[in-house]
Amino acid sequence: MDKALLEKIEKLKKEKDVVILAHYYVDGQVQDIADFVGDSFALAKKASQVTQANILFCGVKFMGESAKVLNPEKTVAMPDIYADCPMAHMATVEKIKEAKAKYDDLAVVCYVNSTEEIKEYSDVCVTSSNAQKVVGNLKEKNIYFVPDENLARYIAKFMPEKNFIFNDGFCHVHKALTVEDVAKAREDHPDALILAHPECVMATLDLVDYIGSTKQIIEYATASDKKEFVIFSEMGVLHELEKRNPDKKFYLSSHDQICPNMKKVTIDNVVTALERFNTPDIAETEIVLTPSQVEAAKTPLKRMLELS
Ligand code: 13P
Ligand code: SF4
Repeated sequence: MDKALLEKIEKLKKEKDVVILAHYYVDGQVQDIADFVGDSFALAKKASQVTQANILFCGVKFMGESAKVLNPEKTVAMPDIYADCPMAHMATVEKIKEAKAKYDDLAVVCYVNSTEEIKEYSDVCVTSSNAQKVVGNLKEKNIYFVPDENLARYIAKFMPEKNFIFNDGFCHVHKALTVEDVAKAREDHPDALILAHPECVMATLDLVDYIGSTKQIIEYATASDKKEFVIFSEMGVLHELEKRNPDKKFYLSSHDQICPNMKKVTIDNVVTALERFNTPDIAETEIVLTPSQVEAAKTPLKRMLELS
């Protein structure tokens, strides 16, 4: 990246007392200027520990909202406030209320990829890296898992003693990765391992070599003796994989693996957002939640941090 731009970003971060948190799916240039890059869980954990007065969250809206819930006293903003995860909106409060009325012994488990409102009605949050552990630690037999059906079906396999109630939410990026893509990847890269995110459909997951969150995929490939990998997740993960493993080859499947919302975050809107901190213009991209919203959504998020 241009040296002058890099210096400008560093100067703004210091002057404005901003920490930049970024998800592995945002553009590689943005990951490079972030103070911390991680998967959803690592980012939520980090957000609960930062000391700066302001947070610039480079990811999608549910991530910025979680950071705000965990830091209500800080200003939390996003480079593009319209970067929103469609799956986050695929659960409804009505359906949660129906499930609560139907089952006595029920836990509402909400994947962090959900709106602040859904979190308010949930008992505990999970991410793809801790869902199995957190749900396994719950005493309730009935689990209403929202919004992602694919992650729910994946973890349900490990706990036959629980009764899962599924919700039909999905990530369009991962759902598009089919069994045909696995077959093509095997044909194109016979020596490679296929590493997939649990947001993929079960038919696809059944055929791959490893399943994990973005961070787990990165750690698995880094520790492996193998030299070639096909990644069934969003293309942004390749940036960190290639950085950590210059001697290994990473491929995508034969079609687009791109989350258009994650890609709304650019170096240009990062700079603009940094300039807006400590000015009235920050209102353009600031995450605003009422104290009662913060209070209600904090309980399931904090419970996740405790249980994982
Ligand atoms: P993780 O970062 O938990 O792997 O989640 C992936 C994702 O889809 C985030 O939007
Ligand atoms: Fe949502 Fe999928 Fe994009 Fe993640 S990759 S933000 S789950 S649409």
